[in-house]
Order: sequence, then C-alpha cells, then structure tokens
Amino acid sequence: MSSQDIPEENLPAAQDAAHGAVDVADEKHPFADPGLPPHEHRIQDIDERAAKRSERTVALLFTVSMLATIGFIASFVAIPVDKSIYVWPLGHVGALNLALGLTLGLALFCIGAGAVHWGRTLMSDEELVQERHPIEAPADVRAQVFADFKQGAKESAIGRRKLIRNTMFGALTLVPLSGVVLLRDLGPLPEDKLRHTLWSKGKLLVNMNTHEPLRPSDVAVGSLTFAMPEGLEEHDHDFQNEIAKAALMVVRLEPGDIKDKQELEWSHEGIVAYSKICTHVGCPISLYEQQTHHVLCPCHQSTFDLSDGARVIFGPAGHALPQLRIGVNDEGYLEALGDFEEPVGPAFWERG
Ligand code: FES
Repeated sequence: MSSQDIPEENLPAAQDAAHGAVDVADEKHPFADPGLPPHEHRIQDIDERAAKRSERTVALLFTVSMLATIGFIASFVAIPVDKSIYVWPLGHVGALNLALGLTLGLALFCIGAGAVHWGRTLMSDEELVQERHPIEAPADVRAQVFADFKQGAKESAIGRRKLIRNTMFGALTLVPLSGVVLLRDLGPLPEDKLRHTLWSKGKLLVNMNTHEPLRPSDVAVGSLTFAMPEGLEEHDHDFQNEIAKAALMVVRLEPGDIKDKQELEWSHEGIVAYSKICTHVGCPISLYEQQTHHVLCPCHQSTFDLSDGARVIFGPAGHALPQLRIGVNDEGYLEALGDFEEPVGPAFWERG
C-alpha cells in the first residue's frame, strides 16, 4: 500500500513510523483497515422504548444505592455495638458490622452497576481506532541486542564452563526455598490455647501489686484493683503470655447500680471482675471513672460501662469485656468460680 492509500488523518502516524527501520510503505498500514467486523447497532440505538427501559434500570440501581446509604446511616444509629447475631456459615457476628458492610457494599455496587449499564447501553457507541506506533523494536536494534547477548555469553564463558553454569542455575533455583523454610516460624497454631486462661474454679484472686490474695474488704467502692490468678510467678516460663490473658480488673459497685442481671449474679456483694484486655486489639485497660463506672482503653479510647455488663459505649471495640464469675471461699478470700466463658482479648477470635 502506498502512502496515498492512507487516510489523511492517519498520515502523521504513518510518517512517524516511516522514520523507524520498518518500511511502512511496503506494508499494509494497520490504521487504514483495523479489521473490525461491521458495526452492529444496539437495540437501544434503534428502539427508543428499549432505551427508556435501560434508563429506568440505571435510575433504579442509583435509587437502590441511595436507599442502601440511608440504611447504612440508620444501622449506625440504631444497632448497638455489642449486639451479635448468628449467620450461617460464619457463626456469631457483630450485627452492626454486618449491617454496615452489607449496606455500604450494596450502595457502592449499585453505583458501579448503574454506571456500567449506562455506559454499555446508552452512552455513545462509536467504534474508534486508536493509533499506536508498533511496539516491536526495529530489526537492526533487535539484531544488535542478540549480538550483544551472544558476545556477553562468549566473554563470560558460560557455554564452555558447564560446571559453573550448572551450579549457578542450581544455586539460583534453591535460594528461594529459604523463604519457604521460614514459613515454619509462623507456627505452631495456637489451637484452643486462646480460648482458655489460668482461671478455674477455686483459684484465688491475687492483687497484682502486693501479690496477696484479695478479700472483699480489700476492694473499696471507687477503686480499681488489678488481679491475677494465684500461683502465677513472674519468673514462670510463660508468665507474660498467661498474665496477658488472665489479668483482671476488680471493682466494687453498689449492687443497685448494676443494670445487667447476669453481671449481678456473677458478682459478690457488688464486686465485679472483668478481663483487663481490651476487645479491640488487646491493650491493657487502665483508666476508671468511678462516678460513671466507665473504664477507658488508652490505645484507641474504647470505653466500657462496668455497671452494664461492660458493654462498649464508645470506640472501635466490637464486644463487651468478658466477665469472670467470682465468689468467696470458706476462708473469706475472693475466688474464681470457673474460667471466662468466652475468649478474652481482640474480638476477631470466634465467639459464641
Ligand atoms: S486496643 Fe483498646 S481501643 Fe484499641
């Protein structure tokens, strides 16, 4: 094809290509006839009723998106943070997180689906050919690259020194395996160790500062006492892990101030014991506001109401703090009446 056969609008690109080693004058110019099949009109282009239907579908998707966004805001306002529901096959999940995820996901999906449907059915349907220069390097450049490569191989003697070549390939093949071996350090799996702590029936509550067993009279109204199970010594091999799971906050409330029925049953004369480990990402909780009975996690400000089952009243934590059922033994010391009934710490561990 000669340059006279190229449409006028394609001439600049053809002239650019002519500066390379490929002689476009001797080849069929790709922009002149890109080889597209004959254009088929969409039904919406020839039938106004079909176009109207598409318009309504797009509008419906955008409307559903608006409703989903309203649902998102309503969920945020109406669903308590610590409410959980059972969803097969996930098990117990936070109702608020589920509602927020579903509504926001639906809102975004409908915007995307509406835009795609709009584009596919109603926007301009012209077929355009985008002019591009050939991406293949000119023949002389390619020849030079191959020549350089051969020259390099010859100078390195990789063809002649087969021993070096083979051992080099062996070394390069094996070295990535080191990364695979390091995967072992991800284990062993904790299995159900995260579900249990050192608390069990009859274990005394020991003051973490004095290491003395606690009596009810040691826990004054308005004070916050930290406790751990008896028998746990600082020089124990697993002390840090065990204390991280078993640490308790012990607080005395007026029994009349306790709003949650189970909390009252699991307490002793208004003394309640809760896990000290925040259910967000596991920081130790340390701030107590005695007038409101709120405890605050210093990491991200999750706030829990100890007078109402330690439910979350503010912040990113997804679950109430687990409560330990306590009583008093024959000698008058505070003791646990069992282990926690749910895993302590971050809420992403399965609960239920
Ligand atoms: S760890 Fe407690 S709020 Fe984040």
